[in-house]
Amino acid sequence: MSPLATALGAYSLSSPLVAASGTVGSVIDFAKVIDFSLYGAATVKSVAPESWPGRKPPRITPGEIGMLNGIGIQNPGIDAWIETHASSLDALPTDVWGSVVAHDVAGFAEVAAKMASVGVAAIEVNLSCPNLDGVPFALDAMLSAEVVRSVRSATGLPIGAKLSSDAQPISRVAAAVQNAGADWVVVSNTVMGARIDPDTRKPALSGLIGGYSGAPIRPIAIKSVLEVTRDVPGLPIVGCGGVSHADHVVEFMLAGASAVAIGSAHFKTPRIARRITRDLKRYMRRRKISSITELIGAFEPW
Ligand SMILES: Cc1cc2nc3c(=O)[nH]c(=O)nc-3n(C[C@H](O)[C@H](O)[C@H](O)COP(=O)(O)O)c2cc1C
Repeated sequence: MSPLATALGAYSLSSPLVAASGTVGSVIDFAKVIDFSLYGAATVKSVAPESWPGRKPPRITPGEIGMLNGIGIQNPGIDAWIETHASSLDALPTDVWGSVVAHDVAGFAEVAAKMASVGVAAIEVNLSCPNLDGVPFALDAMLSAEVVRSVRSATGLPIGAKLSSDAQPISRVAAAVQNAGADWVVVSNTVMGARIDPDTRKPALSGLIGGYSGAPIRPIAIKSVLEVTRDVPGLPIVGCGGVSHADHVVEFMLAGASAVAIGSAHFKTPRIARRITRDLKRYMRRRKISSITELIGAFEPW
């Protein structure tokens, strides 16, 4: 078995690296640039029941530290998505995870059922989307569980629930989605943030508040992984937030993650998985680690 092989419960991955949703387009568009065989899985940008136009510009700002985006989950809707992309999924050299989003519970189930029918390997449930009251599902344990339960009833595929570090405590949401049928959790999505330009007095995003990602959120995501590992033992975790280096992958795994997603770093370095894979192997060789799974939850307490 490859030293990089890992698993999320009964679901096996050839590498702990996962391409995070929204940072590699539909996956298919990026396959010309990125060698997806280096990833255990690649996640498509979230898809809704109907097309969403997204917010008007400005909706992204790289900023001096981290990245702020308020794209509004622009997507073509599931039927158009299937028409454009479904026939190309088989040719990709890694598992493709569908990502589903909606403003109501039934919408999540509808997209999950349609996406499952075209050959994705798993369904990721993007709970950071606002519900009809404008509140992200991910902040409410009961609502998040309701969404996952509806997706569970719509598909037999493995389900990953993508949580938010803005949820306090995140462990309560993690336990609720596990009870509702999630096979693993992704910890976590962007954290909410905003910026205002002191010269123009204009907010950086037309939608005012958006999702903050990249290096500055890594300690927040690591904290969330530690909390979920401690409070919901046995629930597999995909760590996510600010990963751009092999050391960051190791850090997430030591905290308890079984796999680790790379997001915003793709915008600066699309082929980043090549360097991370090489350095991960080097790290393991130097320390005589024969399987990357030895790292999971293996941090040394003080
Ligand atoms: C421009 C952009 C678009 C994103 N779109 C999605 C999306 O459609 N669905 C989703 O679940 N997460 C989305 N995300 C969140 C990422 O998948 C990831 O969880 C987050 O950026 C934290 O990881 P990072 O710090 O490595 O970027 C998006 C992030 C960015 C920066």
